[in-house]
Amino acid sequence: MSNFKIKTILAPMEGVTDFAIRNLMASRGGLDMVCTEFCRIHSDGLSKRLVRKAIVKSKNTQLSVQIMGREIKSMVNAALALEQAGADVIDINIGCPSRKALNGGVGSALLLDLKHLEKMLSALRKVITVPFSAKMRSGFDNSNDVLKIAKLIESTGIDFLTIHPRSSVQMYNGKADWQIIKLLKQNLTIPVIGNGDILSAEDAVNMLNITGCDGVMIGRGALRNPWIFVQLQQLKNDRPIFVPSGQDILNMILELHKSLINLNFPKRKQFSRLKANLAMIFKNIGDGNTLRRIILMPNNLEELLDVCHHHLNNLSASQINMNEKSIGLIS
Ligand SMILES: Cc1cc2nc3c(=O)[nH]c(=O)nc-3n(C[C@H](O)[C@H](O)[C@H](O)COP(=O)(O)O)c2cc1C
Repeated sequence: MSNFKIKTILAPMEGVTDFAIRNLMASRGGLDMVCTEFCRIHSDGLSKRLVRKAIVKSKNTQLSVQIMGREIKSMVNAALALEQAGADVIDINIGCPSRKALNGGVGSALLLDLKHLEKMLSALRKVITVPFSAKMRSGFDNSNDVLKIAKLIESTGIDFLTIHPRSSVQMYNGKADWQIIKLLKQNLTIPVIGNGDILSAEDAVNMLNITGCDGVMIGRGALRNPWIFVQLQQLKNDRPIFVPSGQDILNMILELHKSLINLNFPKRKQFSRLKANLAMIFKNIGDGNTLRRIILMPNNLEELLDVCHHHLNNLSASQINMNEKSIGLIS
């Protein structure tokens, strides 16, 4: 058994994992660490506004702030500013496959420029004093060199590594190859966090058993089932698994709405954010498609909240299947 303390992590997700969602997940329980979406670091550095936005912490859950860039001096300055502002962990994005990231030579583009990657991580290692991690894809156009790249990353002195075992060109297609997580766990000395296609607490236990990884990171599965981390904790401790009722889901939605108000989201943004999150959660409720269509119909916040009250109030836990097996990007 590894002594590594961070066993469960909410994945960084751009446009999704702001404080409202991080706190919502953390307050369900069973979650050791949440990650911010990437903070893009350009040569003009990191604005104070972005630091304030990133460093908002939830009780009892560590905060990892992810940065994505390539200019060494500005990455170092950003890491120092975030550490000083209270980040518990600094994470480097070596995985973003978007066209914009590739054009900027950042994210998964760094997998094509290993010399620069090594130089940047080594420079960051010299100044970062909190735990320092990286999150990587398994390669750029294939995964053949994943171990060589992971070893190079490890040699720069990072404290732990998260692997999303898909190549950059794969985007989100195909299945995450958990054998790659196992390969890294068997060959690296630093803790390895496994990520990719965990949709239920049972999936997370399977990943831990199959790969031997030190902890799991969950993204889309947690958006669909915000109780996934606490269910994993219950499963590992042989305790009954909590299954939410419609009322529990409704309460959670109202809690999310309150957070969006507290964060000063304008009404239109409250509406679009709630709708996007509900579309994920509703994939797993009753006949998911029918309810999902209903939830996507309202054109304003009041109607959306009415629909939630109407359809969730009387749903029993048995009508909710949080373990639906299909996955997709958030709609
Ligand atoms: C909407 C969305 C945004 C994402 N943004 C980021 C990001 O900012 N940084 C990052 O390292 N990965 C990002 N990812 C990748 C996830 O962190 C994760 O590696 C991927 O979704 C696979 O895990 P999952 O199957 O548990 O979702 C994003 C994924 C999604 C779906």
